[in-house]
Amino acid sequence: MQRLTLTRPDDWHLHLRDGAAMWDVVPHTVRQFGRAIVMPNLKPPIATVADALVYRSRILEARPAGTAFEPLMTLYLTDSTPPDEIRRVAEEPNVAALKLYPAGATTHSEAGVRRLEGIYPVLEAMERHGVPLLVHGEVTDPDVDIFDREKVFIDRHLAGIAARFPELRIVLEHVTTRDGVQFVRDSGPRIGATLTAHHLLYNRNALLAGGVRPHFYCLPVLKRESHRFALLEAATSGNPKFFLGTDSAPHPRTQKESACGCAGCYTAHAAIELYAEAFEAAGALDKLEAFASFHGADFYRLPRNRERIVLERSEWKVPERLPFGDAELIPVKAGETLHWRLVEPT
Ligand code: NCD
Ligand code: ZN
Repeated sequence: MQRLTLTRPDDWHLHLRDGAAMWDVVPHTVRQFGRAIVMPNLKPPIATVADALVYRSRILEARPAGTAFEPLMTLYLTDSTPPDEIRRVAEEPNVAALKLYPAGATTHSEAGVRRLEGIYPVLEAMERHGVPLLVHGEVTDPDVDIFDREKVFIDRHLAGIAARFPELRIVLEHVTTRDGVQFVRDSGPRIGATLTAHHLLYNRNALLAGGVRPHFYCLPVLKRESHRFALLEAATSGNPKFFLGTDSAPHPRTQKESACGCAGCYTAHAAIELYAEAFEAAGALDKLEAFASFHGADFYRLPRNRERIVLERSEWKVPERLPFGDAELIPVKAGETLHWRLVEPT
């Protein structure tokens, strides 16, 4: 196969940041995706519909002229989110969901939820209004090994929330383990999961073998090969519960290459091409379109995109570094060759 035509895909989990740096990353996403679920973990977090709409207008300003990219906003759930805010979310089509970060689980999660029981009234309102809950599914207890944090979160918290709120639609974001895949697969249709390109392409050796490689450090952290294999199986299975979410999370190079490097891998520069590499390696390119362009839209009850994009088999070299405001950014596969290239929409 030399050319691959796909319905324009969407990115159901993305970090765009803000200010000048955002202007450098937005065009990468816009080039390939029709819509993106934009994460609210700014400093301070996007916690109200009003904040989200102002942030959205800044994103639209950074959108290259003549493009139709649509940012779908999310609110950051805190211990003090008022249940009343959920009605405003339900009434605002540009705000699609709320994001649950357990406090301390990842980048800019300090304002996250400390006591899950405390947010039950908000979850009840979300269930009633049909607003999806997006979950960073990791516990933060210091006695739980970082490689086990997803499984323990599911066992201790997520399974209970899913049972207590049987109509609540939940996305287990950036699922990274066989256990996570199993949980989603065994749950009803209201529970889905996003999968990143980097978790489909790499296991934890990329991070730790032959030296510490901070550009592969993200959360949830890369896992062992058997987990990567389970993710690839889920992504290529055709099961509509699994869909594309890059979790592309840019950080300045110096903050990654540091004694305490930030978590986040940058993949927006070549996201659909990276997924194509992963699907091709699994012999499942024919499953890419549904995963990238149908399942997420269906889960969010939004229309599928109508335009198309075309990928062509041709080798190209990913830049060594990219501009990022007044800093620079090291993308995944920096300086390496990719085998699929997005050519303009037909
Ligand atoms: C994300 C970020 O940098 O905002 N980092 C990451 O490693 N994925 C936060 C997140 O989604 O966990
Ligand atoms: Zn993320």
